[in-house]
Amino acid sequence: MDIFYGFDLGDAESAIAKLDRTKDTVPEILSVQEAKSFITAYALSKGGKLIIGEGACYEPQATSRKLRFKSRFLTSSDAARDIRSFAGGVLGELYLNGDLIRGEDDCFYIGCPAGWNKGTREEYREIFEEVGYPPAKIVSESRAALVSACQSKHLQVGYDILSRPVLVVDIGSSTTDFAYITSGKEEELQTGGEVFLGGGIMDEILLDEAVSASFEEKRIRKILSESEAWKSYCEFSARRLKEKYFSDEEFWQTNDCVSSVTIRYNVLPAKLTLRMNTDIADKLLNKKVDKLGGRSFKEVFVDSLQ
Ligand SMILES: Nc1ncnc2c1ncn2[C@@H]1O[C@H](COP(=O)(O)OP(=O)(O)OP(=O)(O)O)[C@@H](O)[C@H]1O
Ligand SMILES: [Mg+2]
Repeated sequence: MDIFYGFDLGDAESAIAKLDRTKDTVPEILSVQEAKSFITAYALSKGGKLIIGEGACYEPQATSRKLRFKSRFLTSSDAARDIRSFAGGVLGELYLNGDLIRGEDDCFYIGCPAGWNKGTREEYREIFEEVGYPPAKIVSESRAALVSACQSKHLQVGYDILSRPVLVVDIGSSTTDFAYITSGKEEELQTGGEVFLGGGIMDEILLDEAVSASFEEKRIRKILSESEAWKSYCEFSARRLKEKYFSDEEFWQTNDCVSSVTIRYNVLPAKLTLRMNTDIADKLLNKKVDKLGGRSFKEVFVDSLQ
């Protein structure tokens, strides 16, 4: 076999790499919906058309819109259906773009959080098989990150791994994974895979702060509790604002970092202003949240690390 695909299906974003051993020495990152890294989302339009990626987040005619479903795989049976729809949409794109060719001898390596056990990995693999993927193997994401680091021309990790212990920390949107490698061998580690520690928690806090500060708080809370599609949309907007802020924290010390969302759920639209500043940045790290068992992002992260 000469053709290999790597599928990093993240809770937030996904990417696909292809390695054709007859031609390449390093994997090529494929574009899906014209993006090397595309949003893990799908929507069904009014006519029943399946849309994946960023377009799904903004599709105004969406009858359903699903984001961040991978993080629910361990806890909700709906998540498997969502992964199936999204994975199916991605497969369709790969065929359409000619990046994947029917009947070719190839296989897929698909990442999963290191905390998932054997049974869960098998259930996950079956989803891809059912959708019609070529033979698939499930590998841990932190391990995949390490392989990538080993290949990097800038880091001399390949050499370091043989001589020193290495800890790989992969902070995702839904999980935080650790892989510990000594003498070139990965050691079993208690991972953050089973606690819901990821950047998505911060998006939820940011959104909650914005809703609390809104003079339409009650109405917006009601909409978000009724409409999964609008909740996803608002969380996605919060995430983009968070990334914008942390990409240039210094600049935002003296400038307003805001974005607004117009929620068209009822006849009367509701306007929500999302805001980032040092106070809110502090809350993203230190606010205690139910999802983390009443602890903060920072507390859980430090505990996992220790
Ligand atoms: N510049 C940035 N500043 C702060 N956070 C960022 C920045 N860029 C990305 N993030 C956040 O990092 C988190 C991880 O993103 P990533 O795309 O790696 O997750 P994922 O791989 O989809 O999730 P998972 O691995 O849990 O399935 C997200 O919450 C994202 O918003
Ligand atoms: Mg990831």
